[in-house]
Amino acid sequence: MSTRAIIALLIPLALVLSGCAVTTAPVAKPTATHSVSPTPTATPTPTPTPTYNLDDPASFTVVVNKHRPLNPLDYEAGDMVLPGVIGNPNSRLLRAEAAGALERLATDAGNAGIYMSILSGYRSYATQDQTYNNFVARDGEERANQYSAKPGHSEHQTGLAVDLDDGNGCALYNCFADTAAGQWLATNAWQYGFILRYPLGSEHITGYEFEPWHYRYVGTEVSRAMHNNGIATLEEFFGLEPAPTY
Ligand code: DAL
Ligand code: ZN
Repeated sequence: MSTRAIIALLIPLALVLSGCAVTTAPVAKPTATHSVSPTPTATPTPTPTPTYNLDDPASFTVVVNKHRPLNPLDYEAGDMVLPGVIGNPNSRLLRAEAAGALERLATDAGNAGIYMSILSGYRSYATQDQTYNNFVARDGEERANQYSAKPGHSEHQTGLAVDLDDGNGCALYNCFADTAAGQWLATNAWQYGFILRYPLGSEHITGYEFEPWHYRYVGTEVSRAMHNNGIATLEEFFGLEPAPTY
């Protein structure tokens, strides 16, 4: 059985067993194919599997979508800092660990000749409320829901999401995916603990259109496991239901 197939079996089981704090085994261990008589000196030591908290808004693995609002809805992220190294013309904030990872990412991208800046980082409940309602007024609620989250439902409110651009005229447009920065990010962001949160082809799961500029910090353990196993979304990785609508 392939590693991916084993994971597909393990993740829903882990969810059932543990409720919302998910214990999962991104890198599955091979199981014995023959019986071994245990002896006092050869007792196997169980390898602990990682535990992920999907509910705490302060958890690096919190899953926020149309079915999973932040709790509390007006959650305010702490330990916010101003990321350096990367361009940040509007002084956007991120949580410290995400900011440090983004700085390492930007340093390595810069060494590869790729320069990026931050369009958006942390957004408070009030800012998201204003942003979302401006889009509703412009495009109507049904259309706005395809690209903007209601307040209390945005990853930006966690301080772990960042929108990036490289100044080549594709800011917040799909063509960012074809820029050198967009391609470098799609290939390398996982190495720094970031995932592309709204991939092309996963709209029915994430509930949002393709956003090649929106990266979410989840930590390298999860980003590496998703990358190595070809899992596109947090919902699939943690065995959560798709969240196409509210
Ligand atoms: N554009 C993303 C979905 C947000 O509003 O958080
Ligand atoms: Zn975003």
